Amino acid sequence: MNLDLAKFMLKQTPSSILDPTPTMNTPLPLNTGATIPALGYGTWQSPPGEVKKAVLYALNAGYRHIDAAYCYQNEPEVGEALKEAFAGGLKRKDVFITSKLWCTYHRRVEENLDISLKNLGVDYLDLYLMHWPVPMNQNGNHPLFPKHPDGSRDLDSDWSYIQTWKLMEKLPATGKAKAIGVANHSVPYLEGLLKEAEITPAVNQIENHPYLPQQEVVDFCTAKGIHVTAYSPFGSTGGPLFQEEGVQEVAKKHNVGPGTVLLSYHLARGSSVLAKSITPSRIDENRTLIKLDPTDVDALDQIHKTKGVTRYVFPPFGPKLGFPDTEAKA
Ligand SMILES: NC(=O)c1ccc[n+]([C@@H]2O[C@H](COP(=O)([O-])OP(=O)(O)OC[C@H]3O[C@@H](n4cnc5c(N)ncnc54)[C@H](OP(=O)(O)O)[C@@H]3O)[C@@H](O)[C@H]2O)c1
Repeated sequence: MNLDLAKFMLKQTPSSILDPTPTMNTPLPLNTGATIPALGYGTWQSPPGEVKKAVLYALNAGYRHIDAAYCYQNEPEVGEALKEAFAGGLKRKDVFITSKLWCTYHRRVEENLDISLKNLGVDYLDLYLMHWPVPMNQNGNHPLFPKHPDGSRDLDSDWSYIQTWKLMEKLPATGKAKAIGVANHSVPYLEGLLKEAEITPAVNQIENHPYLPQQEVVDFCTAKGIHVTAYSPFGSTGGPLFQEEGVQEVAKKHNVGPGTVLLSYHLARGSSVLAKSITPSRIDENRTLIKLDPTDVDALDQIHKTKGVTRYVFPPFGPKLGFPDTEAKA
C-alpha cells in the first residue's frame, strides 16, 4: 500500500478503534498463539455450597475465564457449574479454564492434572500453572500442607521446581493442557527456569495491585513474552483496596466504582486480571472496565510507595507468610 495513503487512513481512524476500551473478554495474546480473556473469574475461598451457584452466575454474566486450582478444594463444584453451563449451550471452546499443580504433586505432575480434569469434568485445560515454585513432601503429615513436628514446612528439598517444569513441558503434547505456565514466580525464579526451559511459560500469575505492583516482574515477563495475570486485584479477602483514597480519587475522576479502577489498572499495564466474588451484584459490577490514561496509572503506582505491603518477600513464602491463596482454607 502507498505509504502516504496508509498514513492518511491511520489519521482518519478514530482512537476508539486504534486503542479500544477493553471489555471483559478482550482477547490478550499468549506466546502459544492462543488468547486469554482480559478478565477472569476467581474461585479461591468460594465456599462449598456456594461456589457452583457463583460460577454459574459468572458464566451467565459473560465471564469466559474461570480460574481454579486443585488446592482450593472446590474444583468438583466448579465442575458442576461448568457441566450445567455446557448443558445449557455454552461451548467448551468458548471458556478459558485454568487450574494449578499443587506443591505436594511436583513429582507427579500429570497425575495432579488428571485429578483437576476429572474434578472439573473437562478433557483439557486452556492453561495449567505451577502454583508455587515450592515442591513439598508428597508423603508428609498433610496431603496439602505437610509440616515438620516443629511447625516448619516439610519441603521436598531433593526436588527442584525446574525438574517440575520439565515434567510440565510434557503436557501440551498430551492435549490435556493447551498451555503451561507458572504462578508466584519472582524474577530470580523465572531466570532459573528460563535457563533450563524448552517451553517458555505462557503465563505468570502473580499477586498484583496498587499496594504490590511488582513492576520488575511485569517488565521481566513482558521482555520474555510471558503474559502476566494479576490476582487479588482488590487486595484479596474483604477487598481492602476499595477503601484506598488514591483509588477512590481515580474512580471519582472517571465516575466509576473503585473496583473498575482496580481491574482496569492491569489492562492498562498489558496484564489480564482475576476478580473473585460470590455476590451476584458484585459479579455483575466487576465486569465494567475502562481505559485508564497514563496519569491514572502513575497515580495508582504511587500508592505502594507509602502504603505498600512488605509481606511479599523473596522467596515468596515463609513461616509468617504462608501461601496467600491457600492457607486460609487448609
Ligand atoms: N495463583 C495464586 O497463587 C493465586 C493467589 C490468590 C488468588 N488467586 C486467584 O485470583 C482470584 C482473585 O483473588 P482473591 O480471591 O485473592 O481476591 P480479590 O478478587 O482481590 O478480592 C476478593 C474479595 O473482594 C470482595 N469483592 C469482590 N468484588 C467486590 C466488589 N465489587 N465490591 C466489594 N467487594 C468485592 C470479595 O467478596 P465476596 O466474594 O464476599 O463478594 C472478596 O472478599 C482468586 O479467587 C484466585 O482464583 C490466585
